[in-house]
Amino acid sequence: MNNNKNKSYKIITYGCQMNENDSEKLSGMLNILGYYPIEDEKRADIVIFNTCSVRENADVKVFGNLGNFKPLKKKNPNMILAVCGCMMQQESIVNKIMEKYKHVDLVFGTHNIHKFPELLANAQQSPRIVVDVWENGGEIIEAIPIERKYKHKGFITIMYGCNNFCSYCIVPYTRGRERSREPENIISEAKKLAEDGCKEITLLGQNVNSYGKTLKEPISFADLLIRLNEIKGIERIRFMTSHPKDLSDDLIQVIKNYDKVCEHIHLPFQAGSNNILKKMNRRYTKEDYLDLIKKIKEDIPNISITTDIIVGFPGETEKDFEDTLEIVEKSRFDSAFTFLYSIREGTPAAQMENQIPDEIKHKRFQKLLKKQHSISKSENLLLEGKTLEVLVDGESKNDPDKMSGRTRTNKLVNFIGDKSATGELIQVKITKAHTWSLNGIQIGYAE
Ligand code: 5AD
Ligand code: SF4
Repeated sequence: MNNNKNKSYKIITYGCQMNENDSEKLSGMLNILGYYPIEDEKRADIVIFNTCSVRENADVKVFGNLGNFKPLKKKNPNMILAVCGCMMQQESIVNKIMEKYKHVDLVFGTHNIHKFPELLANAQQSPRIVVDVWENGGEIIEAIPIERKYKHKGFITIMYGCNNFCSYCIVPYTRGRERSREPENIISEAKKLAEDGCKEITLLGQNVNSYGKTLKEPISFADLLIRLNEIKGIERIRFMTSHPKDLSDDLIQVIKNYDKVCEHIHLPFQAGSNNILKKMNRRYTKEDYLDLIKKIKEDIPNISITTDIIVGFPGETEKDFEDTLEIVEKSRFDSAFTFLYSIREGTPAAQMENQIPDEIKHKRFQKLLKKQHSISKSENLLLEGKTLEVLVDGESKNDPDKMSGRTRTNKLVNFIGDKSATGELIQVKITKAHTWSLNGIQIGYAE
């Protein structure tokens, strides 16, 4: 173990928080092996690219970066270059790496992260590329060591995979079928986090509302939250992502009635038109979605709702797009992630006729952004003058004189305040609203 003492590593992570959490596990394993993390990948002994396949531009970036490592590997042949994550679950991508990126040492997938120490040892001894990608996820592996990015907030993956097969989405192919962790394992991970000083946990899953359905002793997501709410030291519980077809009344009541469960739901609607929703295989209608939003807002008036929207799905007409704008107008999301539809080979939508030309996609995209930006801003304006609880992340990225943190509703707040408050829950008076963030001043803080 100790021969790695002076060796360093760098993990470059693309994509969602699930990937971030996987990278934390890779870090945990590397630390146990004796490696230490560094910032500059060019000087690292081990470089890992943890990849994402959700949209095409992520693929393009990874290949560009891998290409940049060719001269570096020539200079330092002992450097280990590993690639893992969702992209590796696609055969065509692995073939491309084997043919054109021969300087890569190790390829593994999303289902065998726990095998990383063994795979690394193989790659270090082998003159040729080591490839190990499992088609399916077997049993869930618990107790993988983990090196967390933050002390005061932590991700907990509560379920893996997805069974929804939305017709545009690659995730069910790269992450496999839905599997839930046993509640006891989730609770002990949360307790361990609390013991280490963590105040906020974020529960991760592609569709958290179907958590627990396939366990031997099924438990609902709402009941899992109730159990987590009891843990001393944990002050905030977040979760994502929720599928509108599965969001239960019980969950709404738990958000309303349990103090630690934060008032924020990430509820992607993807498209407004019933015709497109059907082609997307989303299994709800525009009316269902709007009714759900209405119900949530009636029950929890201070809720923040965010969403994902895809523009330019195959066959999307101007009229269909108007339905998307209608949902945006009526729902008044706090913020939205907006995406141009991107063809993912192997998904049903890739075969659909009437793919939308880029020019039209971009035009609609701009129109949508404009509308959502003005809504985000006006929702944020309602908070000016209010005092909100903020969990402090540290110094603000845009302004070193300010601190930054998040409200319970997950809004970013840059504020004048105490530098030593990192990791603390404090009260901040909101002084100014922007589209993406709020400005404020810490209550009781004297400059
Ligand atoms: N094209 C564009 N956006 C996509 N998403 C998933 N697949 C695609 C695709 N093929 C978006 C969805 C999802 C988010 C994580 O990424 O909006 O909710
Ligand atoms: Fe993809 Fe749909 Fe599953 Fe989300 S619910 S991961 S969009 S298939």
